[in-house]
Amino acid sequence: MPPAIAIRKVEGKPGSVYYPLETIDVPTPTPGPNDVVIRLAAAALNHRDLFIRQHLYPAIGFGVPLLADGAGVVIAAGTNPAAQAWLGARVVVNPGSGWADALDGPESPTGYAIMGGTKTNPRGTLAELMCIDAGEVEAAPAGLSDAEAAALPLAGLTAWRATVVKTGNAVPGRNILVTGIGGGVAIMALLFAAAAGCRVYVTSSSEEKLARAKELGAAGGVNYKDKDWDKKLLAMLPSDRKYLDAIVDGAGGDVVFRGMKMLKVGSQLLALLKEVSLMSR
Ligand SMILES: NC(=O)c1ccc[n+]([C@@H]2O[C@H](COP(=O)([O-])OP(=O)(O)OC[C@H]3O[C@@H](n4cnc5c(N)ncnc54)[C@H](OP(=O)(O)O)[C@@H]3O)[C@@H](O)[C@H]2O)c1
Repeated sequence: MPPAIAIRKVEGKPGSVYYPLETIDVPTPTPGPNDVVIRLAAAALNHRDLFIRQHLYPAIGFGVPLLADGAGVVIAAGTNPAAQAWLGARVVVNPGSGWADALDGPESPTGYAIMGGTKTNPRGTLAELMCIDAGEVEAAPAGLSDAEAAALPLAGLTAWRATVVKTGNAVPGRNILVTGIGGGVAIMALLFAAAAGCRVYVTSSSEEKLARAKELGAAGGVNYKDKDWDKKLLAMLPSDRKYLDAIVDGAGGDVVFRGMKMLKVGSQLLALLKEVSLMSR
């Protein structure tokens, strides 16, 4: 039976417990007609995986393979042509089920079920093999290594939906604020917005992270520990566009109150609220 790694339940309160890892054996997968079996080559971490070990994440599952991001090669497929077409391909997996492409959120009446150490989805990428519906895989980008491709889906998809799809402001010359640039989603949001030609501004608690963000394409950055960070940010904006077109924020709190004042009047306020709600899923 192929191995996987899961968390084992021990006594302890959320926040003070740190669940140990254990190797588990999972049944050798037999693909259904529309399934593919992937031999995983790389899996990637998100902050949620640490939260799971600390029991600071909802619906955690013991004995369920951990991690939601992975890349590998399809080694077996069900009988349907859509599944057969993936045989031998290097792929990444959709980190969850129930949400294909609807703009207003998951299509499934039971909602989005993220994989990796949860009760709501039996799969995880910290495993040797994974069986999954062929509709939940995508070709791994040829220019990325297995480790790089594995790191793309969850943070990348979240950042793409927030920055490009939801704000509608991934347009040259727009001013986008991405908060907490040390975060995984924030870095992807910066890369997507900068590639689209936006002027991207960032916040961070770290001068080093602000400097790195500029190397990655940010037009400027401020330290959110600074009590005047909003005034400093306003001063950085170009004289012909003294407002933010959108904010992509994963932290909430202070930035919502101060950031709202800098947003262009109109629908962009909705964009800020949408991003917060999307990213808190
Ligand atoms: N990771 C994913 O794939 C994913 C998927 C769906 C939704 N989300 C949601 O997206 C958000 C970000 O997730 P993430 O995984 O990218 O988080 P993360 O890697 O933990 O990054 C969070 C960043 O937020 C900043 N931050 C922390 N406390 C702050 C505060 N009080 N005020 C302002 N900024 C603060 C920090 O930035 P600095 O280090 O620069 O100070 C930190 O690095 C979360 O709400 C998460 O639930 C994440």
